[in-house]
Amino acid sequence: MHHFQYKDDELYCEDVPIRAIAEEVGTPCYIYSCATLGHHFTVFDSAFKDVSHLTCYSVKANSNLAVLKLFGSLGGGMDIVSGGELYRARTAGIPAERIVYSGVGKTVQEIDYALRENILMFNIESLEELDAIDKRAGVNGVKARIALRINPDIDPNTHPYISTGMKKNKFGISIDNALSAYQKARRLKNIEIMGVDCHIGSQLTEVAPFIDALKRIRVLIERLGQAGIEICYLDLGGGLGIVYDHEAPPQPHEYAESILKELEGVPCTLIFEPGRVIVGNAGILVTKVLYTKRTPSKNFVIADAAMNDLVRPSLYGSYHFIQPVKRSEKATEIVDLVGPICESSDFLAKDRGLPQPAGGEYLAVMSAGAYGFSMSSNYNSRPRAAEVMVSGGRYFVVRKRESWDDLVRLENIPEFLSVGGPLHGQGCG
Ligand code: LLP
Repeated sequence: MHHFQYKDDELYCEDVPIRAIAEEVGTPCYIYSCATLGHHFTVFDSAFKDVSHLTCYSVKANSNLAVLKLFGSLGGGMDIVSGGELYRARTAGIPAERIVYSGVGKTVQEIDYALRENILMFNIESLEELDAIDKRAGVNGVKARIALRINPDIDPNTHPYISTGMKKNKFGISIDNALSAYQKARRLKNIEIMGVDCHIGSQLTEVAPFIDALKRIRVLIERLGQAGIEICYLDLGGGLGIVYDHEAPPQPHEYAESILKELEGVPCTLIFEPGRVIVGNAGILVTKVLYTKRTPSKNFVIADAAMNDLVRPSLYGSYHFIQPVKRSEKATEIVDLVGPICESSDFLAKDRGLPQPAGGEYLAVMSAGAYGFSMSSNYNSRPRAAEVMVSGGRYFVVRKRESWDDLVRLENIPEFLSVGGPLHGQGCG
């Protein structure tokens, strides 16, 4: 369920017309529905209400402070993968005891920061990282609570760039070496073993790979028990897919039922790290058509949003449904919707039927709440878009549009370039 609907042919987010926001805030801009965000979080979280669990929203999907604050207020924790994400989570007031920290390349500075904040646990991805965290915990005079991220070697049947639980992926510790890795962890003075962690990929549209991974993890937990290593947290990662086009992913309650059936008798607190399923369909990217251009082979619609704003189509060939902000009876035309960036990979849609877009019209790129703004960049020196959160009949700019000043704020011209000198090859004579 989401709150982006037409009323009298005008697209609304909750009770606010998108056009009003676009005219006031400018485009491109991301618009998030607070009601949808809250609803998705609650639906996911309450699917596990009968068991001890913690829903740690995956910050990378959409890292805006307002979004984090909302989930924190609903009882959510956070899954982070960098010091920067920890800083965001803490700035949004998320209690440290609800934060888990994944990622293959944690630096000493990041480890120290997380130890100081006293987060719930590190999800450790290699034996060298285990040693590093043990060492830093010793230096800081604390114990580091940890889970080992296990790579169960399961094919999640998703885009190869976002599959993470196969042998060939860089993530986690191979399930074949898991027992000995835990035995090593047990011997380390500054490490406290808390759990087992596993995340096999993103945008999964079936339950089977989750369950296959879980079966393997379950066997591991039994073996650990036999070896005297008790586990109190089982972190099952994120990965549940959403509808972009015609996918039919399991609903959170179906996902929960299958998982809970498989876990009967496992006395762990469950942790989940959902990202996309909560924010994906709670946000859109609004863009204005600048020009249209007909060539013998293509009809191009050139918009003011580009691959720097939403990279998913260029990077993964992802589909995002696109609809006009003002619905019309115009005939459908097959177009490529492209941005102003100087790359042929700069497109938001290819060979898409749209009602003959014309300059000045606004288009809504749907399902852009996850991995949209958070993957955006300044490529081609384009200021990043504004982000807006709508709640009922009100809206708030939760991140200002960047300015040209912002683009150069951190740069310095070295003195040796400031000395005036002859300019070569200029002028006509
Ligand atoms: N936990 C870990 C350790 C992760 O690496 C991820 C996502 C998640 C949780 C959240 O997964 P989700 O529930 O959102 O599927 N940029 C790509 C997706 C990359 C996913 C990276 N890891 C995209 O736009 O499709």
